[in-house]
Amino acid sequence: MTFSPAELRAQFPILSSRPGGRPLHYLDNAATAQVPQAVLDAVTRHETTSRANVRRGLHRLADKATEAYENARAAVARHMGARAPEEVVFTAGTTSAINLVAHGFGAGLGEGDEVVLSVAEHHSNILPWRFLAERSGVVLGYLPANEEGRVDTGALDGTLSERCKLIAVSHCSNVTGAITDISRVVAAARRVGARVLLDGAQFVPSRPLDVAALGVDFYAFSGHKMYGPGGVGVLWGRAEALAELPPFLGGGGMVRTLDGDAVTFADPPWRFEAGTPPIAQAVGLGAAAEWLAQLDWPGAQRHVAGLVARTLDGMAGIDGLRVIGPGADNSRTGVVSFVLAGVHAHDLAQVLDAHGVAVRGGHHCAQPLMEHFGLAATTRASFAFYNDGGDVDALLAGIKEAAEKLR
Ligand code: ALA
Repeated sequence: MTFSPAELRAQFPILSSRPGGRPLHYLDNAATAQVPQAVLDAVTRHETTSRANVRRGLHRLADKATEAYENARAAVARHMGARAPEEVVFTAGTTSAINLVAHGFGAGLGEGDEVVLSVAEHHSNILPWRFLAERSGVVLGYLPANEEGRVDTGALDGTLSERCKLIAVSHCSNVTGAITDISRVVAAARRVGARVLLDGAQFVPSRPLDVAALGVDFYAFSGHKMYGPGGVGVLWGRAEALAELPPFLGGGGMVRTLDGDAVTFADPPWRFEAGTPPIAQAVGLGAAAEWLAQLDWPGAQRHVAGLVARTLDGMAGIDGLRVIGPGADNSRTGVVSFVLAGVHAHDLAQVLDAHGVAVRGGHHCAQPLMEHFGLAATTRASFAFYNDGGDVDALLAGIKEAAEKLR
């Protein structure tokens, strides 16, 4: 299918809504992207024709629900280049996927073992490891970032010790859109026998993924950022890596036998899906994966790169505006953070909202990176495939008005 922004936009009902009586310029996609009709239809179809619990029932509807749930797992696996659906664990989102690894993989670590993160991480890829460090004496190290906010993976060369057991970094920053050079991370980890976990929450909505080719061990992402429902996400693990993990949450569906004191656990991925999973949400995530799989990716990426270039060009003409992150090159996604001298990020976001432009303002749950930049907050516009030049123009007009009114 050839890429047409207008056709794509028409697939998203919310984009033609007029909150506050104004056209909506939705530029908060890095927080949550919108959902296309195909995904909404898949969820409604499931709920109206196949709703039941999964992997427990002895009736036809339960079989149908289980089939839909497992088909969704297979669709996600195909989309991300997993070798088998069993490598895909459904979780509540990126945060719970990372916590799962911090508990499971972390259970095998002890005093003096090292986990390497970076200063460009979202709090969800810092706090689970800090909790682990407090529990078990694991030592945390932080890779630095360069002046664009990109993780300095060169700092890994020759500095990793044999005590390093895991490197956990973001595939792409939620603040700057900078994409991390993963090949260097994997090479360094292999030299010392460490595992690699990627936080892919921001990468997955913006680029095609071939997780097996990346050579990492664990990969986490959320449904609601990749045009799917909220409340569902994925932990992908290489089969060998998942097989080594003990369970995180205990509950129904994750044991094979529970007989007195003797417990045997189900194989992955079900070992990690205790309790009733988010079934309709997983079905929606499968539909989102299929929707993404039929996208003209080169066309879509060119389109977003064009919007970013137009935004950065326009921003260059605004007095006192500083872009926080890379320039318009190919190693970034559609996230553009910026500060306007003399105007607080929250005030700027509110003026933009009055223009119908939805952005995020704040520390973006990435305070170590804010500290790196010497800032408390930025305003962040984040583009998705359905955005267009009108959204860029509304953003720039709003910033100019804020500069006039608030300084
Ligand atoms: N992690 C999301 C963001 O960056 C919520 O906005």
